[in-house]
Amino acid sequence: MARSPGIRWLGYVLVFQAWLSLLRINVLGTNDMQAVAYDINESECFFDARGNTPVWSESMGSMKFHLPVLVPEIIEHLNVKNAGVYADCTLGQGGHSLALLEASEPDGLVLGIDRDGSSVAEANARLTVYSDRFIGVQGNYKDLPDIAVQNGFSSFDGILLDLGFSSKQIDTDGYGLSFQKDEYLDMRFDRDSDCITASDIVNTFEETELANLIYQYGEERSSRRIAKAIVRNRPLYTTKELSETILRTINSRSRIHPATRTFQALRIRVNDELHNLEIGLQNIVSLLSRLGRLGIISYHSLEDRVVKSTLFKESSTCICSPELLECLCEHKPRLRLINRRVIKPTSSEIALNPRSRSARLRIAENIA
Ligand SMILES: C[S@@+](CC[C@H](N)C(=O)[O-])C[C@H]1O[C@@H](n2cnc3c(N)ncnc32)[C@H](O)[C@@H]1O
Repeated sequence: MARSPGIRWLGYVLVFQAWLSLLRINVLGTNDMQAVAYDINESECFFDARGNTPVWSESMGSMKFHLPVLVPEIIEHLNVKNAGVYADCTLGQGGHSLALLEASEPDGLVLGIDRDGSSVAEANARLTVYSDRFIGVQGNYKDLPDIAVQNGFSSFDGILLDLGFSSKQIDTDGYGLSFQKDEYLDMRFDRDSDCITASDIVNTFEETELANLIYQYGEERSSRRIAKAIVRNRPLYTTKELSETILRTINSRSRIHPATRTFQALRIRVNDELHNLEIGLQNIVSLLSRLGRLGIISYHSLEDRVVKSTLFKESSTCICSPELLECLCEHKPRLRLINRRVIKPTSSEIALNPRSRSARLRIAENIA
């Protein structure tokens, strides 16, 4: 039976619309996800491609463990070997420490450090079979020189920093890191400390100070509007109150939750993350044994910028201002860069652990 031209045209329009919507899903499902991966708060990156299932590795009883990233690459590039001495400066639940212990069998030693006392307790419980070769302690990696001495270490053949926070910290109640939960706006990794909380910041900082913080640490273009809305709506004590205030303020078309950048900014400020990284790297380099290696995994551009510039400086023969025509500094490099290009996870690792897609590993060797 012949169809009327009107019905035929309607059919074309419907097919075209379906094709457009398919294209749109594809665009959001690939390009947009990749774009957010590197620059955005890991809170997004800890979830699967649909954005809601945290990524865990094996479990021990009721305990589930954060899945460590780039493990084979770290073991290879840190030259992990029997009887080597290693520091895992961001121990978390001990995933990387476990790999270091296994790769340095039977006599390798590992010192693990984390600001988060409950993660340290979990790592110690998990690695109890290695208690003659492993010790996990609570502390800030920027104090590595003191922590090492207190625990009987003088230098390390390999030092690892896996920056940011863990799946456990975003998923466990009480940290106040996730805008997907409704809990006190805390954000401290070390909840035994009396350092400032995110709630203190949003409820006491002046509007301009808040805007600058959100812009600087969140790279949020709507920082001024968000700061104004926060000040207008305070007091804000919970993650939900804050995220809803932001949701009402900015009309984002991106797949990233509009609160992501503000949460990242607050977390970085609460834990003084970039300052610790700058100071920590200086201190850590001095503890590498000759030809010892440093591996740093960063997850966003602010972290990687600090890592890149420190490694570049520490590996340069001249750090004079570029305006000077000749070198006056006689700078002695302490490091040699092992990878000029960052090491990224393979596509199969990303498929297994979507969070790993934003990881960037840099390696340097002590030549001093
Ligand atoms: C990405 S997780 C590390 C996960 C770990 N590699 C694992 O396999 O379970 C980052 C960890 O660094 C810790 N951390 C952040 N800043 C720190 C600092 N300045 N000193 C020590 N630990 C820190 C966090 O508490 C968190 O547990």
